[in-house]
Amino acid sequence: MKKVSIIYWSGTGNTEIMAKAIADGAKIDEVEVSLLSVSEASADDVKNSDVVALGCPSMGAEVLEEAEMEPFVESIESVVKGKKLALFGSYGWGDGEWMRNWVERMESCGAQLIDDEGLMANYEPDEEVLGNCKELGERLASA
Ligand SMILES: Cc1cc2nc3c(=O)[nH]c(=O)nc-3n(C[C@H](O)[C@H](O)[C@H](O)COP(=O)(O)O)c2cc1C
Repeated sequence: MKKVSIIYWSGTGNTEIMAKAIADGAKIDEVEVSLLSVSEASADDVKNSDVVALGCPSMGAEVLEEAEMEPFVESIESVVKGKKLALFGSYGWGDGEWMRNWVERMESCGAQLIDDEGLMANYEPDEEVLGNCKELGERLASA
């Protein structure tokens, strides 16, 4: 059975709302969906999945959250070659720089980005973004 894993970090819940909507969209017959906080995920979850979505808000100054998400992303850099991958997350006052950098970083590791711009929400996802999350989930399930 095809396995889709959605792994995220979220401080105030906005990226988590996106993750749940993506998981909802991905839940179709014949697809096993797992939704994991990064604190309970390991590089093996990425290795053992056919399709992976990673979520993290813009933190610090346009970087990934540094205590858990950044080390996790480092740990998967060597296993994402050829992997179907999507990136998502919430941001605030910036212009999405963290996401552009993250997309470029994963592409340079050889990941096959499903959506090469990354899916972003400004703070809490509104109905339109939630619809885009669900649609991304559907694309993960059929990728
Ligand atoms: C410590 C900290 C640093 C942040 N740095 C940025 C930033 O550099 N650029 C930006 O656009 N938003 C920044 N934000 C705003 C968050 O990305 C935004 O609040 C987002 O919705 C948080 O997502 P979450 O609810 O999933 O944690 C920062 C927030 C915090 C708490």
